[in-house]
Amino acid sequence: MAKLKLENEEVISDINRIAAEMAPLGIKLHRWEISCDPAVKELIGRQTLTDAEKAIILSAHDHYFNELAKRDGYQTRDLIVIHEQVPNIDAMLAKFDKCHTHAEDEVRFIIDGEGVFGFVRPDGSQVEMLIEPGEYINVPVGTEHWFHLTPKKRIKAIRYFTSTAGWTPEYTGTSIRIPAIA
Ligand SMILES: [Fe+2]
Repeated sequence: MAKLKLENEEVISDINRIAAEMAPLGIKLHRWEISCDPAVKELIGRQTLTDAEKAIILSAHDHYFNELAKRDGYQTRDLIVIHEQVPNIDAMLAKFDKCHTHAEDEVRFIIDGEGVFGFVRPDGSQVEMLIEPGEYINVPVGTEHWFHLTPKKRIKAIRYFTSTAGWTPEYTGTSIRIPAIA
């Protein structure tokens, strides 16, 4: 389950308390089912995937995408696979580990590994959230946030997009004060 770290170093794992702490940000955090099809599970457990294998994993979870498309106009989805053997992994991740916003919601469904989102709340306080497999997160457009991996350096996440305009961070220049949760 997700864990949330506050600036006073307290770490919260109770989902209702996490929801209460996140409420000012309008972030949605849900549990979604990862496919239990053995062939899909085996693929998810691999470190690297071909495009064809990614397509199998995506289609096994497309009931969620179809719902987002119908309800909120989502247009595309992809599967991002990051692990320590990925070339230029540090340069790739360095684009997102500073405070930034996006021009659309950042919507992710974690299916393997783990990652950390940090947020600046409306009162200026900062939190870090560890997000794990089976967790869906929607970070609303304009929310000041950052992202990094844990020392495991491994994550697979389905990303959902409302436009195909590309995925660029707009840096806000805010310094990150809170120590990493992991
Ligand atoms: Fe981001």
